[in-house]
Amino acid sequence: MRSDAIVTIDGPSGAGKSTISRMFASKLHYTYLDTGAMYRAVGLKVTRLGIDPADSEAMARMFEDLDLRLLPGGDDTIVLLGEDDISKAIRTPEMGMIASRVSAEKIVREKLTQIQREIGKNGGIVAEGRDMGTVVFPKAECKFFLDASPEERARRRQLQLLEKGQSVDFQVLLDQIIKRDRDDSSRDLAPLQPADNAVIIDSSKMSIDEVVNFMMNYFEKVQ
Ligand code: DC
Repeated sequence: MRSDAIVTIDGPSGAGKSTISRMFASKLHYTYLDTGAMYRAVGLKVTRLGIDPADSEAMARMFEDLDLRLLPGGDDTIVLLGEDDISKAIRTPEMGMIASRVSAEKIVREKLTQIQREIGKNGGIVAEGRDMGTVVFPKAECKFFLDASPEERARRRQLQLLEKGQSVDFQVLLDQIIKRDRDDSSRDLAPLQPADNAVIIDSSKMSIDEVVNFMMNYFEKVQ
């Protein structure tokens, strides 16, 4: 099995991408790249600094000293802004909405795309996000688009948050998911959509292991 392929996993929020991407990367002994965490980190920094995401000059200055590091973690990627561990602070539904907002800005997409390509330049990576197979790594050897119904995604997100001690109303989560899908899919830059050559997986009625096994079989076939 190749050790230097690029695998992309795109899809809407709550489709199980993070868990599945991490498991798949670990099976392949590949690096797992959580690009959503990068957009969330930028969203957090912009919020802390009180910058208007549409102010491109202020955003450019913000990127000049953006000291963002992603380290492999257990359940979640460890995200550091300078010496500040923001791993927990970025994982709230509100930060998801803010990340979605900043991710529509050209400068944010350009800067993060550049960093992501640099991380993936030698392959051996499972890159998870919204535009991995379409924009960031269009020549990736193996592309997946992971989907599930909005209701199933809201249910899974609610369970996930409960495990972290956060209790959030189902309807609130469902509304957020539907809004985020709409915003992420309808933006002009790198909208959420499957790459032409991506394998689309609807995981609504599949277990995590079933999805990972399906992916592994496909990955072995395209080698
Ligand atoms: O995957 P996530 O929920 O952590 O992502 C948070 C937001 O970041 C998502 O709503 C849209 C944005 N995002 C993006 O635009 N492109 C990516 N590759 C990853 C995330």
